[in-house]
Amino acid sequence: MRDFLVILHALRLKMLDLNTIRKPIENELNAFEEKFKSSMKSSVPLLDRITHYIYKSKGKQMRPMFVFFSAQLCGGISESTHRAAALVELLHTATLVHDDVVDDAYERRGFLSINAVWKNKIAVLVGDFLLAKGLLLSVENNEHKVLKIVSDAVQQMSEGELLQIEKVRRLDIVEDVYYEIIRQKTASLIASCCASGAASANATEEVVAKMKLFGEYIGMAFQIKDDLLDFGYDDIGKPKGIDIKEKKITLPLIYALNNTNTKQKRHIINLVKNHNEEADKVQEVIDFVRTEKGLNYAEEKMFEFQQKAFSLLDSFPDNSARGSLEELVKYTTERKK
Ligand code: IPE
Ligand code: IPE
Ligand code: MG
Ligand code: MG
Repeated sequence: MRDFLVILHALRLKMLDLNTIRKPIENELNAFEEKFKSSMKSSVPLLDRITHYIYKSKGKQMRPMFVFFSAQLCGGISESTHRAAALVELLHTATLVHDDVVDDAYERRGFLSINAVWKNKIAVLVGDFLLAKGLLLSVENNEHKVLKIVSDAVQQMSEGELLQIEKVRRLDIVEDVYYEIIRQKTASLIASCCASGAASANATEEVVAKMKLFGEYIGMAFQIKDDLLDFGYDDIGKPKGIDIKEKKITLPLIYALNNTNTKQKRHIINLVKNHNEEADKVQEVIDFVRTEKGLNYAEEKMFEFQQKAFSLLDSFPDNSARGSLEELVKYTTERKK
């Protein structure tokens, strides 16, 4: 029994939590939160109420963490790093507000989503407002380099979401297209966090490009994890099973469909296409994915991307910023929400 407890304790110590990882940049993150909050201010009372709600239901803030640690790794945190962190979190928040409209999702970060409380019209306008605030913050401070990096990512995010909608309609998605979708809709923004962090520390073009690729690998692993969480049992603070409900075919299901007989494939596709609103049918699809080892396969692929991120980091000097980034990359696949 004692041995068991010792092992359990050791395991717990090894389990990463975000509060520990953020410790070395706690002051920076506190300053970031102030900047983030004040950059959302508006004189329109309704908008102010909504941005206050957004601020209270804050997320994990992994993107600003990637910005700060990347800057630290590449020369040091500057004023420009702080603005990059606020910019990416503003844009991330804007895209989530829009994403919940697109996905018809009623929960976000354990709270009702903006569209659930204030309806779609308002959510669309609030997302636009946050996007504009991000742009202003950068332009007013002449942050053209960082703005270019992040705007490229935002363009790709929209393209990724649209590619996803197109594929959803035809239900003919293959593995390579899935990677292309998640590279655009998710990895591009995380890539821009690492690249803009490096750029804010005046790193060379070559280093900025390397950090961008590093972020892209993390982003791929990050979205595969997000798609796995959608199949899970635990409370993740947002709806589960929603991907199937929205006919979003992700890696676990792609693999399972590719490894079953034609009859079963046709049956499952029919469920996704025509019975996606029925809870028991969605559950049948989830059970099918489990049985066909779709979750195991996706997990393998997730770790492959994670490994590529680790390998890239190895080419940097071994210092505390590199250690923190390694922890954050580990956390990306260990996280429970
Ligand atoms: C959610 O990102 C959107 C995806 C790209 C899957 P996060 O899981 O980082 O969201 P928050 O900000 O912590 O809520
Ligand atoms: C990621 O896709 C959202 C964006 C990149 C904007 P999802 O639709 O899977 O994200 P969640 O699961 O709603 O957070
Ligand atoms: Mg969504
Ligand atoms: Mg999701």
